[in-house]
Amino acid sequence: MDAIRIRGGRPLRGTIQISGAKNAALPILCATLLSDGASRIRNIPQLRDIVTTAQLLRVLGRQVSIDMPEITVAEGGDVKPEAPYDLVKQMRASVLVLGPLVARYGRARVSLPGGCAIGTRPIDQHLKGLEAMGCSIRLEQGYVIAEGPNGGGRLRGAEICFDIQTVTGTENLMMAAALAKGRTTLINCAREPEIEELGRVLNKMGASIDGAGTDVIHIQGPERGELAPFDHAIIPDRIEAGTYMVAAAAVEGSEVRISGGELADLETLVVKLRATGVEVEALDRDVVVRRTRPLKPVDITTATHPGFPTDMQAQFMVLMSTAGGKSVITETIFENRFMHVPELQRMGASIAIRGNTAVLQGVQTLFGASVMATDLRASASLVIAGLVATGETEVRRVYHIDRGYEAIEQKLAIVGADITRIKGAEA
Ligand code: EPZ
Repeated sequence: MDAIRIRGGRPLRGTIQISGAKNAALPILCATLLSDGASRIRNIPQLRDIVTTAQLLRVLGRQVSIDMPEITVAEGGDVKPEAPYDLVKQMRASVLVLGPLVARYGRARVSLPGGCAIGTRPIDQHLKGLEAMGCSIRLEQGYVIAEGPNGGGRLRGAEICFDIQTVTGTENLMMAAALAKGRTTLINCAREPEIEELGRVLNKMGASIDGAGTDVIHIQGPERGELAPFDHAIIPDRIEAGTYMVAAAAVEGSEVRISGGELADLETLVVKLRATGVEVEALDRDVVVRRTRPLKPVDITTATHPGFPTDMQAQFMVLMSTAGGKSVITETIFENRFMHVPELQRMGASIAIRGNTAVLQGVQTLFGASVMATDLRASASLVIAGLVATGETEVRRVYHIDRGYEAIEQKLAIVGADITRIKGAEA
């Protein structure tokens, strides 16, 4: 397994180019299942999760040609609407093939995603919505078996109210409804920008989606029940952009231009960064972050969009670990998203956990250590901690990082970080 070695304390100066959004690319790749033509997707990030999704589409019978940063997905020979456990267990977002498969082929057999490091990750809302559209759902040997009405017929439009705002739940049902007969209304939807992006693609395919990115979405399926292939360039990755903004804020003396990050999708993070005393300036379509003074402590509570993103919680915690005073970080979305805490404590951070709340007392500095990555965003926070720390930090099991950050060591080295990847390091 690879590791990443960082010698900290060097200010970051220069420009970082943001890649396409992982959490937009994943549902959009799955949306290709809704059409028989060849769809072309551009500005795709080079990530493990993208490779996993391409593998899954091939297993489902699609022809996938990869010429990064482009991927073309066309119909293959025989379609086998079955998503196997060995792929789904690598990436729970594989559940996003369920809605398109049952809408397009009238049936699907998709492994339950199982839990992951940050939580149990149930999909009850996905299944409840599909049942409302006429699907029969049964669970068998760890698999979801879904069948359209009357033994595999076309889904029917329905009125569906989510009990909890779920990003992939909203996306799965949008894709299913895009081919259903009649009109679907989804209420209490998640409002992430990646959902709005999926709505744009489904409209390109000929569906009629209104309200994607808000909490009520109306979807009208096409009369003939067919959708066209599409050509689309993915929006930039706001969480990647936010991660590098926090990295610049965390290292004294840094001034970094984040190229391609949409400020509009990161308003809450920007407000919180500015509250710490960090300068954040919009420059054309880019963002400049300057760390010119000691950090003031700021409290955050994660929430669904447009609240503070849970995917930025671990990174912001590193920032607060060297702020001048006490800060309180509350995680409300996932039940186990503090696994970076023990590793940060080993680097000298002063953090006390009380349930879903972390109370930090800022320290002068962190100290380099050998630390273990556990999940995607926790790994990124350990890299930031290494950039801040005095001495050398080795982040092990960086395959977690490779799931969501394209060329992280190259992008940070360009702005002056002393960072290298160690191939085949001990696990
Ligand atoms: C998406 O995951 C993102 N992944 C996650 O990003 C992100 O952390 C999360 O949304 C929250 O913003 C992708 O978009 C591929 P949810 P998702 O369904 O859709 C509960 C990353 O780092 N819930 O919005 O799986 C669930 O347990 C990843 O890029 C149900 O109870 O998250 C959680 O507590 C990590 N029943 C809450 O809702 C359901 O049927 C929000 O989960 C579905 C979800």
